Amino acid sequence: MSDLKIPKHVAIIMDGNGRWAKKRNLPRSFGHKAGMNNIESIVDYARKIGVKALTVFAFSTENWSRPKNEVDMLMRAFDRYIKKKLKDIKKQNIRFKVIGEKRNIPDFLLKAIKMAESETKNNAGLIFAIAFNYGSQEEITDCAKRIAQDCIKGKISLRSISTDLFSKYLYTHDFPDLDLLIRTSGELRLSNYLLWQASYAELYFTDKFWPDFKVDDFQEAIDDFSKRDRRYGNI
Ligand code: IPE
Ligand code: IPE
Ligand code: MG
Repeated sequence: MSDLKIPKHVAIIMDGNGRWAKKRNLPRSFGHKAGMNNIESIVDYARKIGVKALTVFAFSTENWSRPKNEVDMLMRAFDRYIKKKLKDIKKQNIRFKVIGEKRNIPDFLLKAIKMAESETKNNAGLIFAIAFNYGSQEEITDCAKRIAQDCIKGKISLRSISTDLFSKYLYTHDFPDLDLLIRTSGELRLSNYLLWQASYAELYFTDKFWPDFKVDDFQEAIDDFSKRDRRYGNI
C-alpha cells in the first residue's frame, strides 16, 4: 500500500440502483435504499486512505423527468439520510456539502442540507460532497453569468478571466482537482457530471450496479488509478 498513489479528489456516478432492484424483482425504491446504504463504507474507506474530497452523484437536473413518485421518494430518502448520518459525519470531522442548484428542492430537504452544511463547515477532514439537483452545463453556465456580472460591476477585469479564475466560480472551487471519476452500472458516459472538473481526471468504469460496489471494488479502482501514467499532454 505504501507506493499506492492516492487520488486527492474522487467522484462517483452512483448508477444502477433501478437495475439492481429489477434483477431481484423488487421495486426501484428498494434499489435506491440499498444504494443509500452503500455510501457509508465507501466514505469511510476514502477517509481512511487519505482521499481529500469525495463527490458523489445522487440526483441530476435530468432526473426530474422521472415519475413523480420516484422523485418524491428520492427527496425523502435524501432527507432521512442526512438526519441519520449527521452525527457520525460530525464525529468523523467530515465537511459535508451539497453541490447543485437549490431551486426546486423541497423546503424540508433544503433545511436539512443547510443544517448539515453549517454544522460541519469548520471540519478539516474529508470533504464529502453530494451532487444533488446537479448538472454540469448549468454549473458552467451559471459561472459564466456570475463572472459577467462581476465584470460589469467592475469587481474583476476582462483580462483577469482565466481558467484558474473560472474554477473559482465553480461549486468545487475549494476542492482539489478531480483525479479519478468512477461510474458504476456499465454505462459509458458522463451524464452531465463534472464536465469541467473531469478535464484531466482518470476515468474508471465498472459493470457493477452501485449497491453491489463494495470497498474491495473501490480499492480496485484506486489500484488501477495508481498504475495510470498521467502525462497531461507531456511525453
Ligand atoms: C442511480 O440509479 C440513482 C439515481 C439516478 C437517482 P438509477 O436510478 O439511475 O438506476 P438505473 O440506471 O435505472 O438502474
Ligand atoms: C446519472 O445517472 C445521475 C446519477 C447517478 C444521480 P442516470 O441514470 O440519471 O443517467 P443516464 O440517464 O443513464 O444518463
Ligand atoms: Mg441510471
